[in-house]
Amino acid sequence: MGDACKYAVVTGANKGIGFETIKQLANSGVTVVLTARDEKRGTEATSLLNEQGFSNVVFHQLDVQDAQSIESLAKFVQTQYGRLDILVNNAGASGMVPDEDVLRAINMDLVDWLPGRKTFDDIRVVMKTTYESAKLCLDTNYHGVENVTEVLLPLLQNSPSPRIVNVSSRRGALNISKTIILRMPNEERRKELGDIENLTEYKIDEILQNFLHDLKQDSLEVNGWQMMLPAYSISKLSLNAYTRVLARKYLKMCINCVHPGISDCSLSLFCALLPDGGPTGCYFDRTVVFEF
Ligand SMILES: NC(=O)c1ccc[n+]([C@@H]2O[C@H](COP(=O)([O-])OP(=O)(O)OC[C@H]3O[C@@H](n4cnc5c(N)ncnc54)[C@H](OP(=O)(O)O)[C@@H]3O)[C@@H](O)[C@H]2O)c1
Repeated sequence: MGDACKYAVVTGANKGIGFETIKQLANSGVTVVLTARDEKRGTEATSLLNEQGFSNVVFHQLDVQDAQSIESLAKFVQTQYGRLDILVNNAGASGMVPDEDVLRAINMDLVDWLPGRKTFDDIRVVMKTTYESAKLCLDTNYHGVENVTEVLLPLLQNSPSPRIVNVSSRRGALNISKTIILRMPNEERRKELGDIENLTEYKIDEILQNFLHDLKQDSLEVNGWQMMLPAYSISKLSLNAYTRVLARKYLKMCINCVHPGISDCSLSLFCALLPDGGPTGCYFDRTVVFEF
């Protein structure tokens, strides 16, 4: 099968890493469905690429939290292409809201808190995790990926070389603890998430339910959850765990998760275009395969 007849879907692709991934996939000859939850933002992004000569980019609406929207995308791919070769689960939410009282108190403008401008300690003071922001984060970064993947799996199974790329984050790595902040201070939970032989989607869901429960009770720290970007961290830890569960189940696919680096999409592309027999069930920190 030549590249020219590969079909890909990228979620949350109207901007950022998703948009760049679309551009690079299209440039490699893949026909790409640019998806976005907002019809206007999605069509504008698609038009921009079409005007740049990428006629192999088409738009379809997709809100990863909306079952009907996912079904509609699956129908579109089934009708147009009959199969899916590459799924890039990119859409993401940060799980945080700025604490405007603190910002006002320190006389700081929100734009100064854009990613990359401040240290994590600064962020911890200014950004807060509410129950609503955490739920939105888990529903997007974890359940969204789970739901989209489940519905698109039959189409991926129609492909001779299916690839799934879950765009994760270094905050989802379990074993960086020796050098920096412990990603999951609670040892039992850390072991549970790392125990690939016995891990199931049910267990991951249970861990996420416990997280939301402890957040509601204001008992995250005492129960050993990561306190730096708590919802985002557990969403990406769970995503990495899910990637391994899937890879163990679907042996003929290449299913990996990646930490893209700060705004770098080339690794998502690398994983999307892996050759047959390439790595699966791996976590890439940029170009290096890391322990989970
Ligand atoms: N940028 C980095 O440095 C970095 C580092 C590590 C990991 N990552 C990961 O890389 C991925 C992309 O990050 P980014 O920096 O490109 O983020 P971004 O610029 O904020 O883009 C996020 C995309 O996700 C979409 N989205 C959010 N909720 C959605 C939903 N329910 N359904 C469909 N789409 C939804 C957004 O749509 P709207 O425009 O409508 O909001 C947007 O298109 C994320 O998973 C992120 O966690 C990024």
